[in-house]
Amino acid sequence: MSNVQGLSDKADALEYKQMQELGDLVIHRSPINKLADGEWSDATEFKMAGPKPTLMGEDHRLPAMPEKPTLIDFFNLRFAPSKQHLLQSAALAQKNGLPEKMVLACLLHDVSVIALFRPDHGYWGAQMLEPYVDEEISWAIRMHQALRFFADESVGYEYPVAYSKWFGEDYKVEPYVQRDYEEARNHKWYMSARMICVNDLYAFDSDTVVTIEDFEDIIGRHFKQPEEGLGNDNSPAAHMWRTIRRPASAL
Ligand SMILES: [Fe+2]
Ligand SMILES: [Fe+2]
Repeated sequence: MSNVQGLSDKADALEYKQMQELGDLVIHRSPINKLADGEWSDATEFKMAGPKPTLMGEDHRLPAMPEKPTLIDFFNLRFAPSKQHLLQSAALAQKNGLPEKMVLACLLHDVSVIALFRPDHGYWGAQMLEPYVDEEISWAIRMHQALRFFADESVGYEYPVAYSKWFGEDYKVEPYVQRDYEEARNHKWYMSARMICVNDLYAFDSDTVVTIEDFEDIIGRHFKQPEEGLGNDNSPAAHMWRTIRRPASAL
């Protein structure tokens, strides 16, 4: 075996190892992740991290992303399996004859749940998308969160049975949800946010397989994909996409 061959075998082996694990690299978990796991301490002293090699940048445990990632790359390489919920909601919106803009709103309505944060997901999702979609889409995504808790018989939307099971029969929404519902109720785009709720599919059809590629054309027409790649751009939400791309980066 030549030296060069030996080196390239070594490089392959190293790459394989890094894909399997991070070697000795330390990961500093974000405080929000610790809090979400119920970890909190009232200790008054803290220690700076030791001088150990630390993960900074790309995370080789996750699928590699292209240099200039698109929304579809994020969908395929970072979003959780529950993205099928988004795909099926968008497919239903399409079947119900909603305009393309609303199909995109349904396709992205829970983007925060499947990629970033669950709490306040409508608000986070709207912020992630604002620079890249029509204002009506991000407004509707922000407001669907509040509207989900309130019935509208005029369009056959009932309080979700699942919510009674998950949160208890006597669950009451937080005051800000009540406030935002009232604001949305009188807004010119009320029906757009409401349509997200109507097409928000909780019963998944395991026989229906919808792929993101089914919506490639709609995304192309209604999502302003930055040329330099989602996250590499300088929009007010670019950092959120970068964080999803490199979720364990030290800083
Ligand atoms: Fe939602
Ligand atoms: Fe949903």
